Parts: sequence; C-alpha cells; structure tokens
Amino acid sequence: MLKAVVFDLDGVIVHTDKYHYLGWKKLADELGIYFDETINNRLRGVSRMASLEIILERFDGKLTDEEKIAAADRKNGYYRELLKQMSPADLSPEVKETLDGLRAKGLKLAIGSSSKNAKFILERIGLGDYFDAISDGNNITHSKPDPEVFNCAAKYLGFDTKDCLVVEDAEAGIDAGIAGGFKTAAIGDAKKCGKSDFILNTFSDLLSVTDKLMK
Ligand code: BG6
Ligand code: MG
Repeated sequence: MLKAVVFDLDGVIVHTDKYHYLGWKKLADELGIYFDETINNRLRGVSRMASLEIILERFDGKLTDEEKIAAADRKNGYYRELLKQMSPADLSPEVKETLDGLRAKGLKLAIGSSSKNAKFILERIGLGDYFDAISDGNNITHSKPDPEVFNCAAKYLGFDTKDCLVVEDAEAGIDAGIAGGFKTAAIGDAKKCGKSDFILNTFSDLLSVTDKLMK
C-alpha cells in the first residue's frame, strides 16, 4: 500500500538543471573543455565530484585532488549565484497543486536529492518547510545510482521502501529507486530509459498513478 512519495529535486520539482548546465559550462570554458547538453544529461542525479570527473573526461591536462575540489567549488559558486535569481514564481502551479493533492490523499512527501544545495533551493521557491522529510547530498556517502539517498528518505519517514514511490528525471535515479526496492516513476529525460514502473508525461499524472497504487 502506497504511503509516501519521494521526489528528486533538480529537474523534477524545479528546473535547476539549466543552472547546473550554465555553471558547468562556465567552468568547462575556463578550462578549455568541450561541454554540451548531451554531456550535461549524464550529470543528472550524479554528485558534484562525480559530475566533475565526467567533464574532465575531455580534459587534456590533469588536475590534482586539491585542484579538483577547487574547480568543483568554483562551479558551485557560479551555480549558487544563478540560484539567487529563483523565487516562488519558479515553482509551477501544476507542481504545487499536485503536491497539495497528494498530501490531501494522506500521502507523506519527501525529497531525495543528491544536491548539497537542496535546502537552499527549497527555501528560494517557498517550499522550505513543506516536505515531511529531506534527504540530500549532505546526509549520504554514496550518490545515485546507489539507493542511499532514497533509503534515508524512507527511514526519516519511518516507512518501508516498498511503500514509497520515487519520482525521478535521471536514469541514475531510477536505478537507485529500483535498487532500493521502491516503485519508480520517470519524468523528463528518465522516460527514455524504459526501466521505471510508471511514465509521467506531465507532473500531475502523479495523481492517477498514486490512485492506482493506493487501491
Ligand atoms: C543532482 C543533480 O540533483 O545534484 C546533479 O541532478 C548534481 O546534476 C547533484 O550534480 C549535486 O548537486 P550540488 O548542488 O550538490 O552540486
Ligand atoms: Mg534530477
């Protein structure tokens, strides 16, 4: 019986993925590394340091561990500067109404995000106190496709993973949900991986998907 929905944040609740792209693009340009939207899709759901490693696949030189940390910090600075422009207007009415509708059905709602900026983003869009639990990049040691971030969200809610639905825009996130024993719903880029239990053509499809799982 479905008891909760665990949402990825970037690319699901809000479209910070474009700001991630711009932050990495600026860093890649500075380092003279080719970077485009296709490579950016591989960064979805992946931790900050693992994202940097993917970008460095096309780097001619070599960075020391300290230089890698400095480069990732620099990108994070560019990214957070862009996040400052965000406001509650960046939360779509469809997403907010669907979240409220899920809650009205008695479901608990949680975040399961690889991002260390998750709480900052939620505050920017006016959802700082909204979710029943937040599991993010600050409480995990293994990033998606490892299920740790979702397992922690289920644990914080006090539910078994099989009673929770994971909503993801990244293949790595769908893999993480499956590995943790969750039901999975794919939106956006993750739809094409063909691994999820459900496909969401639009966010509000969650209302009918959860109806099925609550019967
Ligand atoms: C995920 C994004 O939500 O968070 C990834 O999909 C990103 O692209 C990861 O790399 C880590 O984010 P942050 O904000 O901690 O750099
Ligand atoms: Mg995502």
